[in-house]
Amino acid sequence: MFSALFQPKFKLCTLCPDGMDMHSHLLWGVDDGARTQAESLELISLLKKRGFRGACCTPHVISRYPWNTATSLKVRFRELVNAVPDEDFELRLAAEYMLDDHFERQFTEEEPLSPDGTHILVELPQYRLPDAWMDMLLLIKDRGYVPVLAHPERYGKILTPEELAALAAQGILFQGNIGSLCGFYGQKCRELARKFQQENLYFWWGTDAHNAIMINKLRL
Ligand SMILES: [Fe+2]
Repeated sequence: MFSALFQPKFKLCTLCPDGMDMHSHLLWGVDDGARTQAESLELISLLKKRGFRGACCTPHVISRYPWNTATSLKVRFRELVNAVPDEDFELRLAAEYMLDDHFERQFTEEEPLSPDGTHILVELPQYRLPDAWMDMLLLIKDRGYVPVLAHPERYGKILTPEELAALAAQGILFQGNIGSLCGFYGQKCRELARKFQQENLYFWWGTDAHNAIMINKLRL
């Protein structure tokens, strides 16, 4: 009875049609997400309690973490899969590719990390647009992949809502952060997320969880 009082009112996973959290930093020791294997397992346990059926690990591939390559991340991902005690939580590996100077080499030297062989999750910096970011999106398309822009609702300082909608019209898919709907990133971001949601622009949803606090704070 007591614990029931503290259950979230709605299951967060209802935003995700197949119950998959499509953006998370569950892999330990590779970026600013989970720091230890125990922390990775704790995050998975919290996601399961929220009703998620699985999660896509999307570690940052960015010049700040030059050690993250498709090869190295596959090794850590395999360690995580082996450490997860039960098989009823699906884990997939992709990446969150920053469209920075590092991107073209990372994207072309190895087969890029995609959750389904088709889609590539990309992000932009919060405060300035990289010079060649549109060329990088074209490069993704030229290689036969579909770019999915991570949390577009958070780019209010670099792109207008109209410019973001124009990207969607050009075939760039959107991934929304559930936390944006909860007001994690401010009122403007929440409103833009609601607008994009009403316009059915989100292809994926994710927690973008870096730690337990981020999951525990999620309330819809
Ligand atoms: Fe992220």
